[in-house]
Amino acid sequence: MTKNVGIFVGSLRKGSYSRIIAQELAKLFPADYTTQFLEIGNLPLYNQDFDDLGPVPTEYVQFRTAVQKLDAALFVTPEYNRSVPAVLKNALDVASRPYGANVWDGKPAAIVSLSPGTMGGFGANHHLRQALVFLNMPTLQQPEAYLSHVDQFIDTAKGEVNNQGTKDFLQSIVNAFVQLIERY
Ligand code: FNR
Repeated sequence: MTKNVGIFVGSLRKGSYSRIIAQELAKLFPADYTTQFLEIGNLPLYNQDFDDLGPVPTEYVQFRTAVQKLDAALFVTPEYNRSVPAVLKNALDVASRPYGANVWDGKPAAIVSLSPGTMGGFGANHHLRQALVFLNMPTLQQPEAYLSHVDQFIDTAKGEVNNQGTKDFLQSIVNAFVQLIERY
């Protein structure tokens, strides 16, 4: 049966390296997989009053429904101040509530972090991983994906990765993620 992987990009920037890497990753899944970019920039900041007192924003309803339908989630994110960009944390929070209706629950996940700097978004990767533990998402452990100096292997004019070695590494991540998904 076809598996549907949701892709979440932790940057809203036009020309985002994260989005380019996410688009490359999307191309690498097997034929019986579909990938779907779920946009997170339009989600109002989470406020529990929306759920407790209403009305629940339409954006929340649509996003929660879309996440619920996924078989797995792939997060591709930069690091902001050694942590997860707020827009991505907000998306996690929105789809984790109301209490008892966490639609991330049980979905296999993978994290690819990146940076033009030397540490490849390690801090963001592991802060995100910590949240996924609580959300009960079995998360790919190996290979770890911290893409450092990302600006050096992306052709921004073409919007693609410019070397085969990086493409091979991205393929190894997707292959391992598919194996994880098949286990669930
Ligand atoms: C950054 N950047 C950054 N880089 C890093 O390696 N560690 C960090 O902690 C931070 N912190 C940070 C905070 C904020 C608010 C911004 C805007 C940026 C730099 C970041 O890695 C760089 O801008 C990436 O290009 C962002 O990813 P996208 O937008 O290209 O996907």
